[in-house]
Amino acid sequence: MLLKTVVLLALVAQVLVLENGLLRKPPMGWLAWERFRCNTDCDEDPKNCISERLFLEMADHLAQDGWRDLGYTYLNIDDCWIGGRDAKGHLIPDPKRFPNGIAFLADYAHSLGLKLGIYEDMGNFTCMGYPGTTLDKVIQDAQTFAEWKVDMLKLDGCFSTPEERAKGYPMMAAALNATGRPIAFSCSWPAYEGGLPPKVNYTLLTEICNVWRNYDDIQDSWSSVLSILDWFVDNQDILQPVAGPGHWNDPDMLLIGNFGLSFEQARAQMALWTVLAAPLFMSTDLRTISAQNMDILQNPLMIKINQDPLGIQGRRILKEKFHIEVFMRPLASEASALVFFSRRTDIPYHYHSSLAQLNFNSSDTYEVSTLLLAGLRVSLGGGCWGCSALIRGLP
Ligand SMILES: *[C@@H]1O[C@H](CO)[C@@H](O)[C@H](O)[C@H]1NC(C)=O
Ligand SMILES: *[C@@H]1O[C@H](CO)[C@@H](O)[C@H](O)[C@H]1NC(C)=O
Ligand SMILES: *[C@@H]1O[C@H](CO)[C@@H](O)[C@H](O)[C@H]1NC(C)=O
Ligand SMILES: *[C@@H]1O[C@H](CO)[C@@H](O)[C@H](O)[C@H]1NC(C)=O
Repeated sequence: MLLKTVVLLALVAQVLVLENGLLRKPPMGWLAWERFRCNTDCDEDPKNCISERLFLEMADHLAQDGWRDLGYTYLNIDDCWIGGRDAKGHLIPDPKRFPNGIAFLADYAHSLGLKLGIYEDMGNFTCMGYPGTTLDKVIQDAQTFAEWKVDMLKLDGCFSTPEERAKGYPMMAAALNATGRPIAFSCSWPAYEGGLPPKVNYTLLTEICNVWRNYDDIQDSWSSVLSILDWFVDNQDILQPVAGPGHWNDPDMLLIGNFGLSFEQARAQMALWTVLAAPLFMSTDLRTISAQNMDILQNPLMIKINQDPLGIQGRRILKEKFHIEVFMRPLASEASALVFFSRRTDIPYHYHSSLAQLNFNSSDTYEVSTLLLAGLRVSLGGGCWGCSALIRGLP
């Protein structure tokens, strides 16, 4: 019953959505911000500063180390790439850090079968103080990005008023469309308006954006992951129905491979983001990532679930008094993904559940595959041990 209701809502939301044909599945790739921030000191830190070199090296790793072939195809620039505007008002990259320009990076990405994403800000300045896209620059900047053959734009919302954002985001969507180049559009707009109706109109967002940041920036800590998760779950009745092919909620980047999460926490973030149909944007150093973290990010079944063609965002379906939560995402072919998530901080907990308790029809037969084991033992009538499971109805 739950499953049927969810499917219906998703269909209703799909009637009016942005029709650029892009991001039919949650985008996957690499985004510079969480790990590399606004490090512009290429004299002292040439390997890690925001520069052409960083993006070329990440492109090589995306192509060589199996990432691209698993779907991690976006190579996305974030803030701090801009050098200024030329005499005619065209954006130009920092000439020292991006000596060959953005078109060169786009060509390089395309030559490897990757896509290039770029960042700007609907406002006077980007969040780090670089020239923003004011209302009078929207059309010109969209054309610049298209000329450079950029494939995705993340448009932030610092240094603008709510009125400017209300004009600017739809205007940018139209300007991108008018370029004739398919450019996926990531809008930070809702995050600047508190993420919820009535200030945020999710119907409108599905018409103009392919993906949107609803809430705070993620930081390199487990408490940051939990605060984002809590907000998404508290508001799942609003957020879950508006996601679908071509238009996704974005709880922000994966922290996996950085400094703040334990191994189990890293696996939990991957499982939760997967069941939430979230974009999978890594933000880590692919030159030095450990084999263990690569295994988490490259888990093929996890990626398959994240990229499920139905594109239905999962929900938390159970919150037990003893701090175990269960999330469920309906998948194509009558399958479902479950995440058993422990918020306990004391012991590995033996959690018993049943098909009936999880809203499965106990007179049917199911096949269960376990994906990732965690410090939680689950038994579904003796069937499944682990923290994430794929449940498939058998004829
Ligand atoms: C943007 O710049 C204009 C012109 O300097 C100024 O009037 C306006 O207050 C600024 N807006 C914000 C939100 O800072
Ligand atoms: C522009 O919008 C139209 C109508 O929604 C759509 O058919 C077309 O594919 C879009 N083009 C691009 C480049 O996004
Ligand atoms: C939200 O946007 C949709 C589509 O643009 C529009 O039809 C609707 O009236 C808006 N809702 C509100 C409450 O403004
Ligand atoms: C469970 O499955 C049986 C047999 O297919 C069916 O008759 C019944 O209506 C189902 N119950 C629910 C609650 O879906």
